[in-house]
Amino acid sequence: MTPPVALTIAGVDSGGGAGVAADLRTFAAHGVFGALAVSALTAQDTTGVHGIQLAEPGFFALQIDTVLGDLRVGATKTGMLANAELIAVVAERARTGALGPLVVDPVMVATSGSRLFSGDAVAAYRQLIAHAAVVTPNLAEAEALTGHRVATLTEMRVAAREIVALGAQCCVVKGGHLPGDQVVDVCLEGGEETVLSTPRLASKNLHGTGCTLSSAIAANLARGAGLHDAIRGAKAYVATAIERAADWRLGAGPGPLDHFGPLPSSVLGQ
Ligand SMILES: Nc1ncnc2c1ncn2[C@@H]1O[C@H](COP(=O)(O)OP(=O)(O)OP(=O)(O)O)[C@@H](O)[C@H]1O
Ligand SMILES: [Mg+2]
Repeated sequence: MTPPVALTIAGVDSGGGAGVAADLRTFAAHGVFGALAVSALTAQDTTGVHGIQLAEPGFFALQIDTVLGDLRVGATKTGMLANAELIAVVAERARTGALGPLVVDPVMVATSGSRLFSGDAVAAYRQLIAHAAVVTPNLAEAEALTGHRVATLTEMRVAAREIVALGAQCCVVKGGHLPGDQVVDVCLEGGEETVLSTPRLASKNLHGTGCTLSSAIAANLARGAGLHDAIRGAKAYVATAIERAADWRLGAGPGPLDHFGPLPSSVLGQ
């Protein structure tokens, strides 16, 4: 059987834990064929980002158009898009619907805390979000997109409403950085708000949790799942990937996840 196809438009993390490397492993684990367009090369490891080389906008566009011209893309996710010019290249193609259902992970800061975007990106992101099926900001990214503090459950709910008001079908404000025994994500879809709460897993290996969540959502959408199931399946998959890698010793900083565990039943059942 020809597998469904998903496209990741993101950066390269040379350490392999995040970015297109994590996305392609996640797609593969879901039985989805992965295509990619690289927005930036980073010299990165588990301790931080040591250098960034952005793609030239014309060549970046050529990568995307070459994939779209040959493969039937069932869903697309975006990761690191460092400036307004690169975001505009994607927004133009999202506007036509050529990318399929679009998952926007508005990456602004690496797990290590390194900054991965320039100031003009926020306004451009608001344009791109107007064409998104799902937007998955973490707390800092939700703050940047809304312009106000997002550090409590109430503020996460307000932020989700404001981000959906930009035109997205759905927003998941991720609470990985909100202290507590439970990890709480706020999901707002079609006016219906759900608080997705799961136990916080004790692991220092949390590098790439965000990339993994957004690419698992895209993989599930490419497999034909609806938004509701795609998001819940992805959250369960991230938890399994964290749990399986909790004892890994890879790198001096926060290590990667194990993308190759068994798929959660909530995904298999889709
Ligand atoms: N310790 C944990 N245990 C269980 N789930 C977690 C944990 N940390 C994060 N998650 C989940 O991982 C997903 C990513 O959340 P997080 O807030 O870490 O995003 P992020 O900051 O974008 O991640 P990244 O650093 O990879 O960019 C969310 O669904 C969140 O609930
Ligand atoms: Mg992230």
